[in-house]
Amino acid sequence: MANKKEINRRRTFAIISHPDAGKTTLTEKLLLFGGAIQVAGAVKSNKIKKTATSDWMEIERQRGISVATSVMGFDYGDHKINILDTPGHQDFAEDTFRTLTAVDSVIVVIDVAKGVEPQTEKLVEVCRMRKTPIMVFINKLDRPGKEAFDLLDEIEEKLNITVTPLSWPIGMGNSFKGVYNIYSKNLHLFKPSRQVVEEGIQFDDLSSPELEKLVDKGAATLRNDLELVDGVYPDFEKETYLKGDLSPVFFGSALNNFGVKELLDVFVEIAPSPIGRESDIRYVRPEEEAFTGFVFKIHANMDPNHRDRIAFVRIVSGTFKRNTAYQHVRLNRQLKFASPTAFMAQKKSIVDEAFPGDIVGLHDTGNFKIGDTVTEGEILNFKGIPSFSPTLFRYVVNADPMRAKQLAKGIDQLMDEGVAQLFTGKYSGRKIIGTVGTLQFEVIQYRLEHEYTAKCRYESITLYKTAWFVSKNKAQLEDFRARKGSQIAIDKEGREVFMADSQFSLQMAREKYPDIKFYFTSEFEPE
Ligand code: G4P
Repeated sequence: MANKKEINRRRTFAIISHPDAGKTTLTEKLLLFGGAIQVAGAVKSNKIKKTATSDWMEIERQRGISVATSVMGFDYGDHKINILDTPGHQDFAEDTFRTLTAVDSVIVVIDVAKGVEPQTEKLVEVCRMRKTPIMVFINKLDRPGKEAFDLLDEIEEKLNITVTPLSWPIGMGNSFKGVYNIYSKNLHLFKPSRQVVEEGIQFDDLSSPELEKLVDKGAATLRNDLELVDGVYPDFEKETYLKGDLSPVFFGSALNNFGVKELLDVFVEIAPSPIGRESDIRYVRPEEEAFTGFVFKIHANMDPNHRDRIAFVRIVSGTFKRNTAYQHVRLNRQLKFASPTAFMAQKKSIVDEAFPGDIVGLHDTGNFKIGDTVTEGEILNFKGIPSFSPTLFRYVVNADPMRAKQLAKGIDQLMDEGVAQLFTGKYSGRKIIGTVGTLQFEVIQYRLEHEYTAKCRYESITLYKTAWFVSKNKAQLEDFRARKGSQIAIDKEGREVFMADSQFSLQMAREKYPDIKFYFTSEFEPE
């Protein structure tokens, strides 16, 4: 099949970490190797800084920049690499979850001193659920940190994954001598460098006294450590990694460009090429002739005079071609795209064709929302892009009666972008916005004002969780609806949602209506 070669050479992945562990720095170094940038420091602007709360103006500014860095494509040897950027700020965790639906594997960055942090735990949990292959990069070895064995224990315990080190550090902090690459039997001595990369030394026989000459006292420790590693950790097997059951671990220092090339070289060798996706009717394989893809992210234009947006489509199968009519499944309409963009070497450019694993940006005037499927005609919908039950809720109220229409449109479009979720009281008709972080409320208010000239204010509401619900037991369903009517809302898809005001009321509802199933993500099989 014509596409086979293109599919095989692609690697589409995301780097995930707790803020500050070094995701931006590592991304930048990978781009440096790929020749996508020439000097370190070029990616920094991409970063949504980890300001604790209301720096949303800054986020707005950076949102503009981040279109370019949402996807970073570059060639590395024979491979085409697509790195999908994920926002580090926890208030945008849902964005990150959705981006994870569009990748085939992830690299998790962990700070050697801080170990496993909360944000990493959450993100890895999503990967585990999806069986996404995970590779771990332990960063900042140039600084003092936790002992390698302790850290690996912590990773296994907190992230609930099985690991096997493919490289091993020799000392750390001031006494950091380098890493031994177990996978390629290569010794790489540490020399701090922000730009250049030194090649390692092939070193097959670790018992050789040469080792003492190179790393002095570190030699004995390395031999002992590696013996232990050999006894304790499973042998690396590519198949097990690809199934998401074994995570190789690398050590290095992204800032010093150390251990990054090893990571990248092993990554392109073992990481999965684009895999297919499950749809509501069948599994779609990348090698199939017909094009299919799904929207996992929508980015609004920063310019308020142009309310157009970019819909990011992950190509699942076939070849995507410019100026070709494709089926927008949800709208049941044919759409053509005259200027699809690809993201190469940090530049956006128009592409004529793109392959599975690639991300294309489609210019959108409001046709798309997150989760939409595009095909050559087949009616199928990709699964796996759920909305999660939000954790924070507020009533949204129109603050300018003359601009009600603009407000409705603005809210509608922002919800399509996945900024937050909207629920409408079934009987009260009141609109409730649910988010995963407080920042979104401010972002929504700001964007409504600047992009839609509409004003809103918020009123507080006590809500614990939203739960989508279904049941085959009509009597129970009717009784539940009659009694809990004031706590039922309708989501954007027209589905009923129970707005539980406390954990207790949710528990009571579950006990009283055992035949009703409550779901905390929007993706479930209707009964
Ligand atoms: P993030 O995207 O995961 O949030 O992390 P980022 O790469 O921005 O790195 C966070 C901080 O850690 C940065 O310092 C960065 O320079 C530093 N860093 C990254 N890798 C290493 C490493 O291998 N060794 C050491 N010692 N530091 C590392 P900063 O002071 O917050 O930013 P900057 O002023 O250096 O840009």
